Amino acid sequence: MQTTQVTTNTWRLSANIYDILFEGMWPIPHGFSMNSYIVKGEKVAIIDGVCDWDGTPEVLFDQFRQMNVDHNDIDYVIINHMEPDHSGWLKDFKKIRPDFKIVTTAKAQALLKSFFEIDNEIMVVKSGDTLDLGGGHVLAFEEIPNVHWPETMATFDTKTGTLFPCDAFGSFGAIDESPYDDQLTPEQVKFYEFEASRYYANIVGAFSAPAAKAVAKTESLPVKIIAPGHGIVWRENPRKIIDDYKRYAAYSKGPAKEEITVIWGSMYGNTKRGVDPVVEGIKSEGVKVNVHQVPETHYSYVLRDVWNSSGVVLAMPTYEYKMFAPMAVVLDEMGRKKAFNRKAFRLGSYGWSGGAQKELDEILARYKMNWDFLEPVEFKGAPTEEDLATIRRRGRELAIKVKEWVAAG
Ligand code: FEO
Repeated sequence: MQTTQVTTNTWRLSANIYDILFEGMWPIPHGFSMNSYIVKGEKVAIIDGVCDWDGTPEVLFDQFRQMNVDHNDIDYVIINHMEPDHSGWLKDFKKIRPDFKIVTTAKAQALLKSFFEIDNEIMVVKSGDTLDLGGGHVLAFEEIPNVHWPETMATFDTKTGTLFPCDAFGSFGAIDESPYDDQLTPEQVKFYEFEASRYYANIVGAFSAPAAKAVAKTESLPVKIIAPGHGIVWRENPRKIIDDYKRYAAYSKGPAKEEITVIWGSMYGNTKRGVDPVVEGIKSEGVKVNVHQVPETHYSYVLRDVWNSSGVVLAMPTYEYKMFAPMAVVLDEMGRKKAFNRKAFRLGSYGWSGGAQKELDEILARYKMNWDFLEPVEFKGAPTEEDLATIRRRGRELAIKVKEWVAAG
């Protein structure tokens, strides 16, 4: 992989990772990038880094060589965010350069010791502090706690207007030839939009209140370029990803888009018979509908669509007096990630007794999700024609409620 110049005296270094689950749980069929940046004033700083997997630090070190940067030339290692996907490389760096100087927050200082036994000289910074690299490159630091760990900060180069926010404004998706928004085709823009919203829902969503604060801080700065720790660099239109993140953060409490996500699972096909009618009812009102079967679809994708939807349909049978287990897993994840205040409807089959509603209520209460449900349609065994007609009608009613909510803003 080649280093590329972001702007004056600023370069992007990066490694792509494939064939793992991000954070041990999120599928990344198209990989993801870990970005690092070098800013050269009279002093040299490296901002953010890479993980320690499978020779990845060596990818970074090779990129130093491409730039004719000797590791001994690096004056400051700036750690915006201590999570090991950005800091794992430090253990290997310490082998070739034991005495490097770190710039980070007080909370990150403690974590560096716990995770990597790194207790190098550390310049602890807080919001408002600056570091002058010379040549006009004054780096300003702004704490953005909980985006995505409590110790996180962003770094802003006041000379070039480049913001280095680490996880904030990031996305999934590996990047090879074109790391800049001004180099992407419309299809690539669409791809990274999708992967940015999935990344947000999966990784940042639970921290939407802090994310909204971070976006507000960003808007107070004269930002020209956004250079995140994952994904593409926004230098033609940074406003786009700022506005996208603003929307994503707001979607936690709703309303989100004028969309409804139907999540369904079925044991013997009886609940499945209700899916088409509910989708027809939704579509009759012209509302976009996303349909996911569980457990076939990983909850990463379901969560992404629920995050973007103002309405949700849960179609699942009762299973052993409780919810169909894969649906319980998905719903629990929605609660953990704080997908609150959705308009919703449930349908499903039961055999000798119900029970799904009780567990559904427990999960909704546990996470204070405040989902507003229409009257459910439950049927013993197979649905009757009357049940299917009611389901179709409920789909339409839900779509109307979603449209009204979104219109009211
Ligand atoms: Fe990319 Fe929160 O680490």
